[in-house]
Amino acid sequence: MKRVAVFTSGGDAPGMNACIRAVVRGAVYHGVEVFGIRRGYNGMINGDIFQMTSHSVSNIVQRGGTILKSARSREFMTPEGRKKAYEQIQKFGIEGLVAIGGNGTFTGATIFFDEFGIPTVGAPGTIDNDLYGTDHTIGFDTAVNTALEAIDKIRDTADSHDRIFFIEVMGRDSGYIAIQSGIAGGAELVMVPEVLTPISEVVETLKQGWDRQKSSSIIVVAEGDEEGNATEVAEKISRQIGTEIDMRVTTLGHIQRGGIPTAYDRILASRLGLGALEGLLHGQKNVMAGVVNNELVYTPFRDTIRLPKPINEDLLRMVKILSV
Ligand code: F6P
Repeated sequence: MKRVAVFTSGGDAPGMNACIRAVVRGAVYHGVEVFGIRRGYNGMINGDIFQMTSHSVSNIVQRGGTILKSARSREFMTPEGRKKAYEQIQKFGIEGLVAIGGNGTFTGATIFFDEFGIPTVGAPGTIDNDLYGTDHTIGFDTAVNTALEAIDKIRDTADSHDRIFFIEVMGRDSGYIAIQSGIAGGAELVMVPEVLTPISEVVETLKQGWDRQKSSSIIVVAEGDEEGNATEVAEKISRQIGTEIDMRVTTLGHIQRGGIPTAYDRILASRLGLGALEGLLHGQKNVMAGVVNNELVYTPFRDTIRLPKPINEDLLRMVKILSV
């Protein structure tokens, strides 16, 4: 393989730039020409493709976001869109792709291979940490630390005013950010999509806290929780315990997606970027590079897409024990 391209797709994640850098520098090291595609599959369709050199990725290892920009492409979901993308890939003589993204990205890459035979190796880039085949995804550690910093600050004001705070963190289908930031922030309860925490249990936890003279409480809610988002959960609680209890809701939102990547994310992203590139050069296709138990592994896209990544329910049990 003499010519490859790299792109970022789906929700951005801190550390994506470190991953792009590793792909580009790895390609230069191995004497392979490397191209960047802007705005994910949209850029592939529109031919927004440019040659990259070692210099193109100078001074980006520490930057959040993605210099290649990102998008969720609707057009690539259509056969016409993919045909246009293939024509551009052919025009530039690109023989293989490194895709940095999540399951939507890998689903697109799988269909693209089935239709046109262009191989892709993926690197897991999403703050949600919801991909089977890697212990951690690029951006997760930074997002947890960003959420934690906010939780610590909210705890100060919650404590000063004897308030209950519901803090919503990202995680459409996944409770990883909620669990990690909740444990580290000393939350009274963590609510995640994978495990039903009935409102009655939340009320019970709050009441037990009051019985022990706890004057403030922090409940971390993943946005995709079965009882609803943090606002909905707070409304349900106030219907049960009354409005005289002082409650507030804070939604952390997209601040979790930005910022300077942690050392952990930069190192992980570098390993996964180089691992994806070298896998591609050695003939891997339709697989995602991951790090499991500190070993670089390749997992077929069909498994990363199909298999759930279970949370560690023991950690939820621990939250309850540690908040007595
Ligand atoms: O997949 C990452 C993620 O940050 C989710 O946690 C969140 O639900 C979603 O992206 C938000 O997407 P958007 O940026 O399109 O609003």
